[in-house]
Amino acid sequence: MAVPLALLALVALLAPGLGVAFPGCDYPVHQWCSSREIAVACQVRAAGARAAPPLARAGSPCRAHLCANLSRPAAAPVEVSLFYESLCPACRGFLVQELFTAWLVLPDEALSVTLVPYGNAKEKNVSGKWNFQCQHGPEECLGNMIEVTVTVLNFSTYFPVIFCLESGSSVTKNLEACLQVYAPQLDGGRIAACVQGDTGAALMHRNAQLTEALDPPHQYVPWIVINGVWQGEKPEACGGSGAPKAPKAPKAPARCRR
Ligand SMILES: *[C@@H]1O[C@H](CO)[C@@H](O)[C@H](O)[C@H]1NC(C)=O
Ligand SMILES: *[C@@H]1O[C@H](CO)[C@@H](O)[C@H](O)[C@H]1NC(C)=O
Ligand SMILES: *[C@@H]1O[C@H](CO)[C@@H](O)[C@H](O)[C@H]1NC(C)=O
Repeated sequence: MAVPLALLALVALLAPGLGVAFPGCDYPVHQWCSSREIAVACQVRAAGARAAPPLARAGSPCRAHLCANLSRPAAAPVEVSLFYESLCPACRGFLVQELFTAWLVLPDEALSVTLVPYGNAKEKNVSGKWNFQCQHGPEECLGNMIEVTVTVLNFSTYFPVIFCLESGSSVTKNLEACLQVYAPQLDGGRIAACVQGDTGAALMHRNAQLTEALDPPHQYVPWIVINGVWQGEKPEACGGSGAPKAPKAPKAPARCRR
């Protein structure tokens, strides 16, 4: 799939480069991160540099060498937004098997994830209150609402809770159990109140707006946007339509089209 490939490329980028010394850099590779001055002399991206130093451009062997303990990498994190529905099987598969795994192995500063549960839902203003209808029924609306609430509380702490809900037997019935394992400090009552109250509706309305603002508009879920750009259909190299058929390839789960 396109996304894991992009993420793999990112991992490759973050892997320590072999490194070749530059003029002015009389230090062995293992010392490149020992101070900001040396990092700069050796064209290593560090020292809080916003832009890479002149020689550390694409093609430079130092480009990939990062001093994690000196500063964050100069590159901005890759932003992945997932527009999905809590009960859509293909969404669950992508979230559990690909996105969460990538998020776990990559450092915070490399990957930033935004989850937008809503997908093909519809909203209606009923006497001043937002009312939602979901593709997979009321249970999906409940699942979406639980997940948007958990997400807003503190994403990096609670993404594992969403993973737990989406990977379990029931998205809506395991909240207490998932909280116990992944966020015992979080009060389940607080989430329940949000889910049933105006706050939940306001959060879901925001997701409706985010989903409706997609350009191009989404045609199915999961709909994956990386750095603000829809990733399109699978490229041929990743087994998309133009790729030679691999024998006995497992069937991709059907997307949730409306
Ligand atoms: C950063 O890590 C390197 C090893 O990768 C070490 O040699 C260096 O002393 C560390 N620098 C600081 C400022 O902690
Ligand atoms: C929703 O409906 C109420 C009245 O039914 C109206 O006052 C309000 O402006 C509407 N809100 C939106 C965002 O359309
Ligand atoms: C999220 O939770 C972590 C760990 O509990 C905490 O360090 C961080 O400050 C929290 N972030 C926000 C925005 O509350």
